[in-house]
Amino acid sequence: MTERRVVMVGRMRAELDAALRERYDAVGLDEADPDTAAKAAVAVTSGVWGVRGEHLDRLPGLGAIVNFGVGYDSTDVAEAARRGVAVSNTPDVLTDCVADTAVGLVIDVMRGFSAADRLVRRGDWAAGTMPPLARRVSGSRVGIVGLGRIGLAIAQRLTAFDATIGYHNRRERTDVPYTYAARVLDLARESDVLVLAAAGGESSRHLVDAAVLDALGPDGFLVNVARGSVVDQDALVAALVQGRIAGAGLDVFADEPHVPEALLGRDDVVLLPHIGSATVETRAAMIDLALANVERFLTDGTLVTPVPA
Ligand code: DGY
Repeated sequence: MTERRVVMVGRMRAELDAALRERYDAVGLDEADPDTAAKAAVAVTSGVWGVRGEHLDRLPGLGAIVNFGVGYDSTDVAEAARRGVAVSNTPDVLTDCVADTAVGLVIDVMRGFSAADRLVRRGDWAAGTMPPLARRVSGSRVGIVGLGRIGLAIAQRLTAFDATIGYHNRRERTDVPYTYAARVLDLARESDVLVLAAAGGESSRHLVDAAVLDALGPDGFLVNVARGSVVDQDALVAALVQGRIAGAGLDVFADEPHVPEALLGRDDVVLLPHIGSATVETRAAMIDLALANVERFLTDGTLVTPVPA
């Protein structure tokens, strides 16, 4: 059997870090001596960090990269495949929570709940001020960009709100009752709220640009639970500041944890610190699945949830 060595690339959640150290005597790549790094069979990382060429150079014996999180765009999967290194992620277990987050953001930004909460806390209600009227969520037209597992879960939830669902996907799906748009621009034009659930990476980079935001228009909202890279963030800030869209609910940003200064004082945005999957239950399930991938690879050289190379 391959030498039992596991390294961590980047800072892991405390529970995952502790489990990896206890079960596999794992160390961080930054604390590993060259000999330890050379013997590593598995690298555990997360969407925040990722494993790329410069890490792989230090890990010549690596067989697998185990990514904590469904999104693995921070890992160079093509380079890993070229070196014969397989990659896994943690799909399914976080679908519900990320979809819940998307729906929460849709409701919050369209109804203005966070802004109204701030108004109450400031004492403005007591002083006689009411927030402006908001937008109706029920019966609205929702455009979903990326109809994978999470996009589908968002569609199913919003169907209960009598929403009309349209979607854009790399490929049209024949197994859903929703209206397909071949271009994001056309979907935006037909949507009251555009919800981003596409995978990150080069293929979806800046899929939402100034033209798409203008197609969404001054009454339209943007919600992003995917990756900051899917949106041209400068164009988004400009569209908000100039009133060219109505508002945005964002769980992800281009340069996390940094959020554009121009957004911080605005009531037409809801800003979350990338907490789409951050519940006790889901994070525990993600840790279990990441550990199952490590164990499986060290046992028989396969992965429980491999991603396509
Ligand atoms: C992931 O797992 O990639 C998500 O960003 C979690 O919120």
